[in-house]
Amino acid sequence: MRKTAAPECKVFPIRLPAPFPAPHRRARMAESGKKKPGESRSDKTGATGNPQRSEGSAGATINRGAHMKKLFAALLLSAIPALAIPTSSWAQGTGDVAAGKKLWDGNELFCKNCHGRDGEGAFGPDLAGRGLSPAEFLKAVRKPWGVMPAFTDAQLSDAEATNLAAYFATLQKVAEPGAWRVPVADNAPHGQQVYMSQGCAQCHGATFDMPRATFGGKAATYNDLRDLVYTHTDFMPKFEEVRPGQRLRMGNFNPLRIPESEIHEIYNWAHDDLGFRPQLAAQYTSTGGTSYALNVTNNGETGKGLTASGVVIDVMVPAGATVTGTTGAGYKGVHMDEKMKGNVAEWQVPKLAPKDAQAFTISFSQAPANPADLKGAIRWAKPAPKTGPNMDALNFALRPAAGGGGAANRTAQ
Ligand code: HEC
Ligand code: HEC
Repeated sequence: MRKTAAPECKVFPIRLPAPFPAPHRRARMAESGKKKPGESRSDKTGATGNPQRSEGSAGATINRGAHMKKLFAALLLSAIPALAIPTSSWAQGTGDVAAGKKLWDGNELFCKNCHGRDGEGAFGPDLAGRGLSPAEFLKAVRKPWGVMPAFTDAQLSDAEATNLAAYFATLQKVAEPGAWRVPVADNAPHGQQVYMSQGCAQCHGATFDMPRATFGGKAATYNDLRDLVYTHTDFMPKFEEVRPGQRLRMGNFNPLRIPESEIHEIYNWAHDDLGFRPQLAAQYTSTGGTSYALNVTNNGETGKGLTASGVVIDVMVPAGATVTGTTGAGYKGVHMDEKMKGNVAEWQVPKLAPKDAQAFTISFSQAPANPADLKGAIRWAKPAPKTGPNMDALNFALRPAAGGGGAANRTAQ
């Protein structure tokens, strides 16, 4: 379950990634300001920087309350003409609602990680029922107002953006925007806070696992990270092999919103506080009946990539089934595993250097009652995170049969 963290950033009172310039939101903020006229707001931090808000007498407080009331009334009035237009009138003519829904619900865009599964809002603002016109929608995607990365035409075409706008116009507006998908831990190290506040964690998880592995496989530098963030759509295909025609799901970040100093902090956190990971990969596939193959590789570059040592490979034994046969060196049998909450079959491999590959097979007595039980995890003793507990693991699940679209993982962890 997600924690109900307020979207306003707890960590950085100065850099606010979540509040947005949307008029509705301003109206809501104005309303809450009206409800608590006596509160001395953020005059001390100077975050709102409104010189008219001076501390002091009751008179000033009353004036401020009256001022807020007027402001709110003005905002309401200005909103009326917009509200009078049924939001779906343009949508039906200009966008393909079904195509928009299909695109949003699919796996090609990662917008959901920030805007919520149904556009209910999360790290980014709610989109459902907000009545954004295609032009407003497109502007936000190509020239984002704030911390959101920009998406190119190859990532989301004008027509597709129009379809998304049409789809969101058919949805009910939410009473309250949703919580961040990956909340900020209160005591996170500074570099991790920067990483969180810029929205990276919403796709890459709290500990940046996937990039730390690729970086560990290539001994990647600060410049690599900078280029992957600012010019992602140009640099990513040069940095790593990308399937031809694959839509890149991360956008290009704006140097004015995430300055180089912050990218340095993210790099230092990933490199010095945590450390890079070995670039391990696992492919778990069906070989027919109740038999499965697991191929584990170290995809790091020879001479550059990190070697994993003390590697432990756990394959879950589906509830009700037993193991009827295995192949592959280092098999240690079946035991109950706390982390997997069930029985696992375990192999131990002393070392996996770049380009090493190990093949394993396993057969079960019966088909799993729950196909989600076809999964496992790889852990390694070294290299371990330089600070904090060792949570590093590579989780894997059965790859869907051909046509299933390959890695069906919605996140980029
Ligand atoms: C890293 C998180 C993140 C991702 C990923 C993201 N957004 Fe956003 N989005 C935001 C934030 C934050 C805002 C508020 C303005 C800003 O920061 O640019 C926003 C604003 C918007 C708005 C304007 C909303 C308004 O109230 O005016 C639209 C439309 C939008 N995003 C669409 C998209 C689409 C489509 C995608 C995927 C192609 C996407 N976003 C991906 C975080 C994100
Ligand atoms: C919308 C989700 C999303 C957000 C937000 C996001 N990324 Fe990514 N990132 C991805 C995906 C997906 C990839 C793989 C390439 C692609 O599809 O664009 C990627 C690739 C990368 C890579 C290349 C690593 C590799 O394994 O090849 C780095 C480094 C990276 N991201 C860093 C960041 C940083 C730093 C931030 C925040 C400033 C960030 N990302 C924000 C989704 C995201």
